[in-house]
Amino acid sequence: MRALITGITGFVGSHLAEYLLSQGLEVDGTYRWRSRMDNIDSIKHKIGLIECDLRDPFSTYSAIKRSEPDYIFHLAAQSFVRASFDHPAGTIDSNVHGTINVLEGVRHAEINPVIQVACSSEEYGFVTPQEVPIKETNPLRPLSPYAVSKVAEEMLAYQYHKSYGLKTIITRTFNHEGPRRGDVFVTSNFAKQVAEIEKGKRSPIIQVGNLNAQRDYTDVRDVVRAYYLAVQKCDYAEAYNICSGRPWVIRDMLNYLVSKSHKKDIRVEVDQSRMRPSDVEILHGDYSKFHQKTGWKPEIPFEKTLDDTLDYWRARIV
Ligand code: GDD
Repeated sequence: MRALITGITGFVGSHLAEYLLSQGLEVDGTYRWRSRMDNIDSIKHKIGLIECDLRDPFSTYSAIKRSEPDYIFHLAAQSFVRASFDHPAGTIDSNVHGTINVLEGVRHAEINPVIQVACSSEEYGFVTPQEVPIKETNPLRPLSPYAVSKVAEEMLAYQYHKSYGLKTIITRTFNHEGPRRGDVFVTSNFAKQVAEIEKGKRSPIIQVGNLNAQRDYTDVRDVVRAYYLAVQKCDYAEAYNICSGRPWVIRDMLNYLVSKSHKKDIRVEVDQSRMRPSDVEILHGDYSKFHQKTGWKPEIPFEKTLDDTLDYWRARIV
């Protein structure tokens, strides 16, 4: 069996590639000419790398035709919520047109792979305390251009299944973290700042945004296991939550990281540029629908995810 991963050089893409290789699959992946390759350094000789700009229909079609995969994991996206407020059109362009080009590419290649479209818990957006834990039936009330782009991706996955019979799988994944996580995202950003303070590269002040939000965290290594099960066992055009069901207040996550440092007297300072025009305050999911279909449950405690992320940055800040 062959898998094609869009965005293989990214955080999730690189973990997924490693996992699929360990399961005996052949793995191809798309990258852009300016993609950094360090995440896939240890596996690049074992995978097929295809240069591709997903915003270009022909480039996307050619990548799919060249790979002729049994599974497509469509992960590539502009995935930073904060940036989507500054670049709404670019976010919609990358995410929505990118997804259309993947789906059209499959149609024109005349193949019928199972296609996972990586959607997001951000789609739930404004959630009331009475609505948690959030089920897939909850209304979608997106609060950022990024979230709107993911609602559109999901609707495209639905529509292409109904219109053309494409075998689309919709995963609504809650926050997932771990080593290699981009340093703009909160867990990785705070862990990097702690590591920089330890190495004397920064004064003992951590810059933060909204510490009151709650996020339902899962380790990326549990998430990629979920994605492989999803393409094998889930129903097409149905949405599935992937999460741990264990929300953390961002402040508690920060306190945990600080408590793991030998540096004392670390202070916190709010950086207004890290605030969002509207933030999702509570994400606390219910993954029972996905569990019933696949038997999946998360195995890695979030404390280990944070420990590993901190060690990842300690090894890189010299
Ligand atoms: N990035 C960041 N930086 N976020 C901060 C900071 C900071 O300094 N301080 C507080 N936060 C808060 C944000 O306001 C938000 O409430 C929360 O921490 C998490 O922010 P992110 O780590 O940037 O993730 P996200 O929840 O916005 O989005 C992530 O999860 C989604 C799934 O729910 C991304 O990975 C999305 O691509 C993904 O779809």
